[in-house]
Amino acid sequence: MNGCMARVCAGSSTLVPFSPVTSTTPACPSKKTTVAASRRSRSVSCKATGGDEGLLWLPRREVLTGLTGVAAGLVGYPGLASAEDTCLKGDKVTEKIVECTDPAGGKIPCPPTSTSKIIDFKPESAVRRIRHPAHLLSRENQEKYKEAVAKMKALPAEHPLSFTEQAAIHEAYCDGHYRFDPTNKDRPFDVHFSWIFGPWHRMSLYFYERALGQLIGDDTFALPYWNWDTPAGMVVPPIFRGASANPLYDTNRNSMLVDKLLDLDYLTSLQKPGGAVILPFDESPHSDKYKELVYSNLALLHQQQIRGGRGARNFLGEKFCTEASVKSQGLTTNELRDKKTKAQGSLERMAHTSLHMWVGKNPPSGVACSADTGGVLAHDGNYNCRNDMGFLGSSGRDPLFYSHHANVDRLWHIWSTKLRGKGFPDPEWLDTSFVFYDGIDNPQRVRIKFRDVLDAANLGYTYDKESEKDLPWVKCDLRTLVPHDKGAAPRAKTRGAAPAQYPLTLNKGTPVEVPDVALPAAEPGKQRVLIIDGIVYDPADQNKFDVAINVPKEKVGEVGPTHVEYAGSFSIVPSSKEGGGDLEGKVALCIEEVLKDIGAASDEDVDVVLVPRTAADIKLSVPPVIENFDRDD
Ligand code: C2O
Repeated sequence: MNGCMARVCAGSSTLVPFSPVTSTTPACPSKKTTVAASRRSRSVSCKATGGDEGLLWLPRREVLTGLTGVAAGLVGYPGLASAEDTCLKGDKVTEKIVECTDPAGGKIPCPPTSTSKIIDFKPESAVRRIRHPAHLLSRENQEKYKEAVAKMKALPAEHPLSFTEQAAIHEAYCDGHYRFDPTNKDRPFDVHFSWIFGPWHRMSLYFYERALGQLIGDDTFALPYWNWDTPAGMVVPPIFRGASANPLYDTNRNSMLVDKLLDLDYLTSLQKPGGAVILPFDESPHSDKYKELVYSNLALLHQQQIRGGRGARNFLGEKFCTEASVKSQGLTTNELRDKKTKAQGSLERMAHTSLHMWVGKNPPSGVACSADTGGVLAHDGNYNCRNDMGFLGSSGRDPLFYSHHANVDRLWHIWSTKLRGKGFPDPEWLDTSFVFYDGIDNPQRVRIKFRDVLDAANLGYTYDKESEKDLPWVKCDLRTLVPHDKGAAPRAKTRGAAPAQYPLTLNKGTPVEVPDVALPAAEPGKQRVLIIDGIVYDPADQNKFDVAINVPKEKVGEVGPTHVEYAGSFSIVPSSKEGGGDLEGKVALCIEEVLKDIGAASDEDVDVVLVPRTAADIKLSVPPVIENFDRDD
């Protein structure tokens, strides 16, 4: 371990995946280190429930006649018997189902239309591109990257692979320009907040990287990644800084933070007693503050990748499940409201989201955001001033976005290789496809499916092995915020906490205790998951709340990823009000490890504490619940 590493988070060169004890299906084995394995007697993980085939778009009558299929599905997937899981399967997305709409005529960045034939993706014959950390890039590769991006920026804007178009494609897919549903094109479609996030971004980077290589005539050109999961990479990489002459530079960043040591839990740090600690990146690695911040970043990555990232469902996100899909089951409007929500996986909602917020500008305080105050016009007609990275609609305008996402992609790659995580077996996920332009000289439309991108080798790239050798976040000793010996921490009701009333509004600085949330007994082959559904929020604002278990209200302000009581967070990158107003979200958090660590694994109930970290109003429509999911869920 070098001096940069924090005291208790460390890498492991002996990653040994831990096999589930009783699971018969390899769909989602949990990922363990040898240390973790020896500490615990059994392992658990989560994935989406599988189920019936082909019922999605059938009219109601056919759904009913198809119910034997559903019932047959239930036999293999006992989790489906739960009346809660009304979205039996996710929705498969194809270019026939999503459509970029531009009712305003040219105002919306839909990809250029073309009547050219769509060809199917063919796997690359060899791995030619090795992605390296941006902060360790050779001088030659730095120059190559700058040259390639400069050339991409010099293409005519309407070229389907111009830099303008790259940014526009991300904007179109995340700012409500695409509409979903073969019968009703009125539903906004977004590649974030569900199991679509990982594969869609991988595809988009792949075509970006290929185009850059073509522009400089080098088919070994590989996208450098922002290696923010290692202490030496915890700053905006120098090649992206400087001034406008640098094609990798972007003026729309938070100039206060751009050369500072990252804080991957910045929004929460701002609310802690004493506020966020902002340190220059070159702060002495021996200072306590430096060590503490690096430790807390690594602890967050440990939570994201190991503790909270078990199984596809927790790591990659919940099924993409539209209102149309659940409607086919004949539910009432109220039932629908809670069931159509999807949820981000830990890969999306943790370090990824924090860094968007860290890099994007701060909106001017006390002044309305407008074109004059540097805002970008969003699809909903409003200006957003967290650009570029702090707003989904504009993040693709910052070259740093692609290297940031390359590291998100790398952490997925590590999860599915070294950590032996498995993706979803569901055909709705595997066969989801998108169409991208490929080829600078003769742009062609290529259809690529999720199943094509699960192995990076199929896409002809990999990540440098050196950087995978000693992952500093794999082993991490978390701290205990409050004692949990029996009697040491009186439970909320004993202290007189009243039951919360729903809908409930979360206000920054005022934690909410939800006493006595029923905890189903542990069952072999199952995993307890805390579900907070019906989260109503303004997508254009910053939204974050942390969730902790069995922590008294007075102490909970301090809770975060460094603590064993921390169950996870709801956190989003702002986007426009694509659907015309507030959105509904959901977060599902595996808490089996938390329960064990606080000695509550056999209790009948626990106190769930919600800690709002941002000023925007967030409403909860329904109380949190804890459910037992199949271990492979
Ligand atoms: Cu499409 Cu990091 O966002």
